[in-house]
Amino acid sequence: MALNELVLELKGIAKRFPGVLALDGVDLELRAGEVHCLLGENGAGKSTLMKILAGAQPMDSGRILLGGAAVDIQSPHHAQTLGISMIYQEFNLCPHLNVAENIFLGREPRLGWTPFIDWRKLYGDARAVLSRIGVDLDLRMPVRECSVAQQQMVEIAKALSFNSKIIVMDEPSATLTGHELKALFALIRDLKRQGIGLIYISHRLDEVFEIGDRVTVMRDGKRIDTRAIGDLTRDEIIRMMVGRDLTEEFPKEIFPKGEEILRAEGLSRAGAFSNVSLRLHRGEIVGITGLVGAGRTEVARALFGADPIEGGTIHLNGNRLALRSPMHAIREGIGLLTEDRKQQGLVLGMTVRENTTLANLKSLAWGPFVNRKAERAAAEKYVGELHIKTPSIDQVTQNLSGGNQQKVVLAKWLFTESKVLIFDEPTRGIDVGAKVEIYKLMNELVRRGAGVLMISSELPEILGMCDRILVMHEGRIAGELARSEATQEAIMRLATGLGLAGAA
Ligand SMILES: Nc1ncnc2c1ncn2[C@@H]1O[C@H](COP(=O)(O)OP(=O)(O)OP(=O)(O)O)[C@@H](O)[C@H]1O
Ligand SMILES: [Mg+2]
Repeated sequence: MALNELVLELKGIAKRFPGVLALDGVDLELRAGEVHCLLGENGAGKSTLMKILAGAQPMDSGRILLGGAAVDIQSPHHAQTLGISMIYQEFNLCPHLNVAENIFLGREPRLGWTPFIDWRKLYGDARAVLSRIGVDLDLRMPVRECSVAQQQMVEIAKALSFNSKIIVMDEPSATLTGHELKALFALIRDLKRQGIGLIYISHRLDEVFEIGDRVTVMRDGKRIDTRAIGDLTRDEIIRMMVGRDLTEEFPKEIFPKGEEILRAEGLSRAGAFSNVSLRLHRGEIVGITGLVGAGRTEVARALFGADPIEGGTIHLNGNRLALRSPMHAIREGIGLLTEDRKQQGLVLGMTVRENTTLANLKSLAWGPFVNRKAERAAAEKYVGELHIKTPSIDQVTQNLSGGNQQKVVLAKWLFTESKVLIFDEPTRGIDVGAKVEIYKLMNELVRRGAGVLMISSELPEILGMCDRILVMHEGRIAGELARSEATQEAIMRLATGLGLAGAA
C-alpha cells in the first residue's frame, strides 16, 4: 500500500445512547503510514467512534469507506478480516488463559488438518510477536497474574498478530513507562514505515507531539477540527479540547507541613520490596515514582492492608498498626485508589450513586436505614465537582466512558474522608481539564489536614504537584528529592538505578 494513500474514511457517523448523543455526524480520514491522533475530553465520543469502526457497536447513521469502497462492518471478526484491529481501552483478555493463549484466542494454529492445537507453533508465534514489541513475558503466565502494564502489552501483541492495515490504539500507553513506552513508540514508527495507518487515542499530549502526524479533536460528540501536528501548539490543542484556555496545568498550593500521620519503617516483602521507609505529614503530597515494576503498587497495597508485610512497621498517628485487611485500613482512615480500577475500584453493574457512596455508607446511615436524600446529594456533589459526564447519578457505571468511570472511583475515595489517601496513578486516562480538577481536589484534601501519597509514572504531574518525591528502583527507595531540587533528569537517574548525579 502506497504511503499517504487514503485507507479509511468515516463519514457523518452518528450514535445515540439513552440520554446521550455520543456521536453527532463525525468525519475522520486515515492515510497509509499515518499516525492520526484522536483527542478529546472524557466522554467526547472517541472510543464509541472506534468501536463502530471495529465492529463492536452498530452506528445509527453514517458511512465507512475502506480504500474508497463502502463497507458494512458487521462484527469485530468481520472488521478483523477487513484488516482493522483494535486495542481496547478496557482490556479484552481472558484472565484464566495464559499470555500466549490470549494472543491467539480463537485462531490457535492446528496440527496439519487435525483439530489439535499446534502448541509449539502457538508459543513460537507468541514469542515472535512479543519480541516485535520488545517485551519479554512468561508466555505461560495466566493473564490474571500479569500486571496492568503486562496486560497492555498482551493486548498490543494480540492486535499486531492480525497483520492489519489499520490499527486503532485506544490509550495504549496509559499504563506504560520507561522502556515499554520507548518500545511502543519504536513499534509505531515501524508500523508506519510498513504503510499501516494508525489511529492513536491518548490523554498524554507529549506523546501526540512525539509520534503523531495529524490530530482530530472531538468535543461532545462532534469533530472540532483536524490539523497537522506541526501546525499546532500544546495550548492550542488544549483549547480545542476543552473549549477554553487552561490557566494552569498544575495548580499546586503549598500548605504548612503538619504533624506526621503515617510512618513506615523497613517494610519488606520478598520478591516485591525491601527496606522501604517513608513518612507522610498532614498537609503534604508525597510522590512515589519509578519505572513500572519498581514495587510502587506493592508498597501501596501493603500500606492498605491488602497484602501482608514480612518485615517492618507501620505507624498511624504515632500508633503502631498491624493491618489485617483493606476494611481495617479504611476504618483507620486509610484509602487506596487502586491502579487497577476495572477490577478493584468499581462495581460496574451498580450506578454512579451507589459506587460513590459504597465505601462510606455508614456516614449516611441512621441505624439500618440509609438516608437516600443525603446519598443523592453526595453523589450529585461529586458528579458536579469532578465534571463526571453522565446523564444522571442513576446511570449504570458500565455505560460511562473510561475516564468518567475513573472519576467515579475518585469520588468514592473522596467521599470516605480518609486522612491518608494513597492514589495509584490517579489521573491515568483522565483528560487535561479534568486532571486540573483532580489536582484541585488533592489541594483541598491536604488543606483539610489529610496527607496524600501519589504514585504516578507521569513525571510532569509528580513534579507539578508533590512536595517531596520518593523514587523507587527494584523494590527499594533509591532516593528522595525535595520539590525544589527535583527534575525529570534527577528522577530518571534514580529510577534507573544510576543514583544521584555527582553522588559517589
Ligand atoms: N454502552 C453505552 N451506553 C450508554 N452510554 C454510553 C455507552 N457507551 C458510551 N456511552 C456514552 O457515550 C459518550 C461517549 O463515550 P466514549 O466512551 O466514546 O468517550 P471517550 O471519548 O472514549 O472518553 P474517555 O476519554 O473517557 O475514554 C459518553 O457520554 C458515554 O457515557
Ligand atoms: Mg474512551
